[in-house]
Amino acid sequence: MKTSEKLILNLLSDGRFHSGEELAKKLGITRSAVWKIIHGLDKLEIPIFSLPRKGYQIPDGLELLDIKKITSYLSPTSQEIISLEIFDSIDSTNQYLLNRAKNKQAKSGEICLAEHQTQGHGRKGKEWHSPFGTNLYFSLLWEFNKDHLDLSGLSIATAIAITRMLKHFNIEKYLQLKWPNDILWNYKKLSGILLELIIQPPEKTKVLIGIGLNINMSKYKTHLISQPWADLKGILGKRVDRNLLVGLLINELIKMLDEFESQGLRPFLNEWQQKDLTFEKEVQIQNGTIVQNGIAYGISEKGELLLKNGNEQIVKIVSGDVSLRLA
Ligand code: BTN
Repeated sequence: MKTSEKLILNLLSDGRFHSGEELAKKLGITRSAVWKIIHGLDKLEIPIFSLPRKGYQIPDGLELLDIKKITSYLSPTSQEIISLEIFDSIDSTNQYLLNRAKNKQAKSGEICLAEHQTQGHGRKGKEWHSPFGTNLYFSLLWEFNKDHLDLSGLSIATAIAITRMLKHFNIEKYLQLKWPNDILWNYKKLSGILLELIIQPPEKTKVLIGIGLNINMSKYKTHLISQPWADLKGILGKRVDRNLLVGLLINELIKMLDEFESQGLRPFLNEWQQKDLTFEKEVQIQNGTIVQNGIAYGISEKGELLLKNGNEQIVKIVSGDVSLRLA
């Protein structure tokens, strides 16, 4: 991002109106140059409104990610283990770390955060709506001393780490977990996880943990999101400090990775069961063209979904998309 763009964003981050004249004066440029810069910011999907005689405004204001602030919330262990990089705009935080890992540039514990993603994506390449300065777009690279076959429950453990972090915001009551990687609030998607394995023998298995979480989603362009969604601001009725949230999330992830490495999924099963959206419900599971119906009975110690089919047999589902079958 250009310095002039950053300066304008900083001035507008208080959520108040600033006239074109004031902005021009502060930056030492003309009013039409201000206008051009503001229009150039459209690509970041920042809702900047303009009114004749009042000027420009970002209605909800902005609080940008800040390495110093995030670090101040990190536990001593996290501080020792992780390294942070923040981008104003990037194609995808997962893609960035994936490239670094493939080129052997990245170390375990590297975290990439971005204010905006141009190609944020979820499972099956679905677009992940990533407007500037509002939500969380987070990726962590981690190296395991385990075979990749023993990592099947990692998305479950990651979902639990996210719910443990969300406890700090007291929104537990309506939180729901949907196998294998969705966190919902009152049936609306709040957060999604995208895990990508990097297997380059003889090196240790690396995993990229990508997390998207809706925090202070502005209503701008949300019609582009294809499913019901929730954000923390909407749930709590107030803005959430994103730097605090990132710090807490990193601490929970680091604790989770340690537990998962030594004990697998066992320490997380109970918490999953308490929030399991589909437990004892009729579900449909789609995997490519294969569709299976049955009743969901939680998950196995490997993180597979347990499904009771029409023959009263419990089958283990390794991958697929689950939807509730409504009566
Ligand atoms: C899903 O629900 O399908 C997973 C969504 C994961 C989105 C995050 S945002 C940060 C990281 N970068 C990406 O491109 N995707 C993940």
